[in-house]
Amino acid sequence: MATDKIQRTLALIKPDAIDKSPEIEKIILEEGFTVVDRRRVRLTRAEAEEFYGEHRGKSFYNSLVDYITSGEVLAFILAGDDAINHWRRVLGPTQVSRARHEAPGSIRARFGNSNNDFHNAAHGSDSVNSAQREIRFFFPDLTLEPVLTGEGAKEY
Ligand code: PPS
Repeated sequence: MATDKIQRTLALIKPDAIDKSPEIEKIILEEGFTVVDRRRVRLTRAEAEEFYGEHRGKSFYNSLVDYITSGEVLAFILAGDDAINHWRRVLGPTQVSRARHEAPGSIRARFGNSNNDFHNAAHGSDSVNSAQREIRFFFPDLTLEPVLTGEGAKEY
């Protein structure tokens, strides 16, 4: 459903799904997103700890950092109508088993690891503030113009 709300979001293909990035990118384009920029990078542990900083102290924090530093990741800036929610719908639920049950065509259902619920192939920003922070994290040198939302308000 079109909302007339152009946004940007950060999409991240995680290390164990990077071999599937051509297939995932095909889905991105079929879904109508514009790829504003992309970057393939291996995060250091310190960078990963910063990226997932809001989860510091949670029981799963170390395994999350282990996972995201286990190989290269591919980060995309995606733009499109309601991009943040749209990309999260395309991803499916966080846990791979739930994704397979509830959204079998989703990226996490198709490319997530069936032996580990949280090796879920890809990430998406969960809010406008997170998208802004995560885009700056991966693309610190990029100057992006604000996008105008349908209400005439500016979002980053
Ligand atoms: S929370 O606590 O509700 O904010 O967590 P959630 O939004 O579900 O998930 C945040 C990210 O942490 C990952 N996660 C985990 N990794 C490993 N083990 C466990 N138990 C676990 N629980 C959550 C989850 O995949 C999210 O990362 P992204 O990159 O967004 O998928």
